[in-house]
Amino acid sequence: MDCTVKKRIAILGSTGSIGRQTLEVARAFPHQIEVVALAAGSNATVLEQQVHEFQPKLVSIGEQGPSLEDIASHPDIDLIVVATAGKAGLLPTLAAIRSEKIVALANKEVLVMAGTIVMDEARKFGAEIKPVDSEHSAIWQCLQGEESNEIAQILLTASGGAFRDRPQEELATVTAEEALKHPTWNMGPKVTIDSANLMNKGMEVIEARWLFDVAYDKIKVMIHHGSIIHSMIEFADGSVKAQLGVPDMRTPIQYALSHPERWANTGLPKLDFSEIESLQFASVDFGRYPCLRLAFEAGTAGDTYPAVLSAADEVAVELFLAGKIGFLDIPKILEEALGQHTGITNPSLDDILAADTWAREIAKGRFAI
Ligand SMILES: NC(=O)c1ccc[n+]([C@@H]2O[C@H](COP(=O)([O-])OP(=O)(O)OC[C@H]3O[C@@H](n4cnc5c(N)ncnc54)[C@H](OP(=O)(O)O)[C@@H]3O)[C@@H](O)[C@H]2O)c1
Repeated sequence: MDCTVKKRIAILGSTGSIGRQTLEVARAFPHQIEVVALAAGSNATVLEQQVHEFQPKLVSIGEQGPSLEDIASHPDIDLIVVATAGKAGLLPTLAAIRSEKIVALANKEVLVMAGTIVMDEARKFGAEIKPVDSEHSAIWQCLQGEESNEIAQILLTASGGAFRDRPQEELATVTAEEALKHPTWNMGPKVTIDSANLMNKGMEVIEARWLFDVAYDKIKVMIHHGSIIHSMIEFADGSVKAQLGVPDMRTPIQYALSHPERWANTGLPKLDFSEIESLQFASVDFGRYPCLRLAFEAGTAGDTYPAVLSAADEVAVELFLAGKIGFLDIPKILEEALGQHTGITNPSLDDILAADTWAREIAKGRFAI
């Protein structure tokens, strides 16, 4: 173990759900991982504890300390865990790629906003992007030893979120508190709300399109209770590969850090097949989940539409969490922003950032906030 070259990592968003779990993995592998930088948004108390324990060389919080882009391109860092939420991860991810770092990407909005630019830059600079999202980690693992042009279909599994079993007519009045109770995963607020209406799955569809270079008509979403199968690939010959595990984000986080190795971790829960009676699946009703339909539409339209979707969703989720709009207003805001937008073909980064700003104004204006 001691002969392993340590991976020098930075965690952007270290105080969040993914950030804290990344540090749990780092704590379990002190000979393999050195935490060189930690960046948080505003949670000084947790950041202080993390700094005390891991003694990173670089620390930032909000506007204080080095910028996220400076951290992402710092010469003492090999791998950047992008665990920020929403738009915050886009520019640091590009900075990391342009500095030829390995990017362990959790912040899915990065690829939703600017998939073409991010993937083109990664190819140009030879930077590796390793998925952290459990579904994309599963697909990535299933693809090992396979040719990506032999994919017949990607089957993304979805838990169905907090309201999977709620009658449709009750959804108009559900509260943020109820929406924050996810049946399987314990995550940050934005991703938990996005999971309740399958916007999260919609963003994962767009993320999968870019990470694995597959067309949208080859990506299918299935409801899978229990989140045991994290996703599957059907290959050209009809064979299906699935990746299974206890739903625990430390497993895909650890794999993004250890790849191409696998590290034994006694602290992670293991599947006990004697306790699994059955694996259940169901098709998705797009009428019940309009956000998923909108994500497929925005992704297929391309241009600046996915950036508009992502920005409008960030605003809509904030409004919902603040109790200013209802749960079913979220897809209405997204639909309105997408409907009013005139897409820009082959957008530059500036075009994407301008579309993002425009969509936020439209989404806020919808409710005159
Ligand atoms: N949680 C999961 O299980 C999970 C699974 C798959 C994918 N993801 C994706 O991973 C991303 C992170 O999710 P999460 O659940 O970990 O979110 P989270 O708990 O809300 O954490 C977000 C982190 O980003 C930090 N942050 C926000 N703005 C920042 C800024 N401008 N500069 C520096 N740091 C900033 C926050 O800092 P403060 O808290 O200090 O303000 C916090 O540390 C999301 O895109 C999500 O979709 C999450």
